[in-house]
Amino acid sequence: MSATPKFHWPLMQNNVLREDLDAVIELLQQTDPILTQSKNVLAFEKEWSDWLGVKHSVFVNSGSSANFITLAALKILKGPGEVITPPLTWVSDVASVLHAGFEPVFADIDPQTLGMSTGRILEKITPRTKAVFLTHILGYDALTDRLLAELKARDIPLIEDVCESHGATHNGRRLGTFGWVSNFSYYYAHHMTTIEGGMVSTDDPEVYQILRMLRAHGLVRESNDAALRDTYSRDYPDLNPDFIFAYPTYNVRSTEINAVMGRSQLRRLDDCNQRRTANLKVFLDNLDPAKYRTDFKFEGSSNYAFTLVQKHADEEFSQRIQSTLREAVIEFRRGTSGGGNQLRQPYLRKLLKPNAFLEYPDVDHVHFFGYYIGNYPTLEPSRVKQLCDLLNSIPGGTGGAP
Ligand SMILES: Cc1ncc(COP(=O)(O)O)c(C=O)c1O
Repeated sequence: MSATPKFHWPLMQNNVLREDLDAVIELLQQTDPILTQSKNVLAFEKEWSDWLGVKHSVFVNSGSSANFITLAALKILKGPGEVITPPLTWVSDVASVLHAGFEPVFADIDPQTLGMSTGRILEKITPRTKAVFLTHILGYDALTDRLLAELKARDIPLIEDVCESHGATHNGRRLGTFGWVSNFSYYYAHHMTTIEGGMVSTDDPEVYQILRMLRAHGLVRESNDAALRDTYSRDYPDLNPDFIFAYPTYNVRSTEINAVMGRSQLRRLDDCNQRRTANLKVFLDNLDPAKYRTDFKFEGSSNYAFTLVQKHADEEFSQRIQSTLREAVIEFRRGTSGGGNQLRQPYLRKLLKPNAFLEYPDVDHVHFFGYYIGNYPTLEPSRVKQLCDLLNSIPGGTGGAP
């Protein structure tokens, strides 16, 4: 039997280029440069808003911080209640719902997008629903026209977590422009990076001002609306206007260094996305549909990781996939986004009734039989084809005996 070829395939590489580092060096070479949040952060926010197609953006130090201030702002504006929350997402999406004091109400996923299914979201809406917090998983568009129409008719805000899907579209329009507020992450492993970083984007001027304050200690002086600042000064004449803390929050600002890197990265985001999308097509076109799911909603997708989901719940096949990938030195993550079914995690098991995670069979399938593999911009399509050949050659997985 021939030995498995070694692919030496990491989850991510070459996501920071010389030109990004040179941009940072240029900043550092200035005499006495300002490194804390200043004009580069502002410029990055403006360039990001223009790229995305929104009015306002707030740069923060991570996608998780974007989640936290977004849910804090929702609570300030809408009061307590339920938030429809994905069972397949990153921990901070659920944590931000909990920390803001909302009750998370989960809705199972659509296997073709890995995002919450529209039908299941709509079933969970009650008079107490304050928002639908939808995560677009690993580049797939989880929106439907029906969901958008129903939420509009019921006046329920949509919050989009686009941390894994920069550049993906719905009906040709960028994800992150449909929601009331949308969140992005610039962690190293994502479509573009500021080392660590995140963005909150919105068209709503009221929430924009609240987000600016929530980013930095709740300080009123962080608002760039003079009328709002004046109102606070008038209402609290006993306070120094420099130190009016409107909300009990934290400091989740980023720095000029991260913003300079983001501005440099943003210039090639579309180009990198195109190459990644072309590679995803090679991946889905060449995988054996008898063994793996290949019917993902490709249209509008923008993916930084290949989603490998077994067609059948077959534990032995799963073990063979994992040992083959390890032997071939291909890095992967089981469970896909965030490690799979969040309801199985200790922090949620403590809060929910026993075995609540079993009520979400579609996310549970991905939890045990789904994986992702890196799709980075310098990856050659021929290598993606080789990866498919390797995966297709693993015996079994078709529902019958291997
Ligand atoms: C869907 C989603 N939301 C939020 C985050 C948090 O982003 P960060 O790692 O920048 O804190 C991630 C992280 O990978 C994510 O995948």
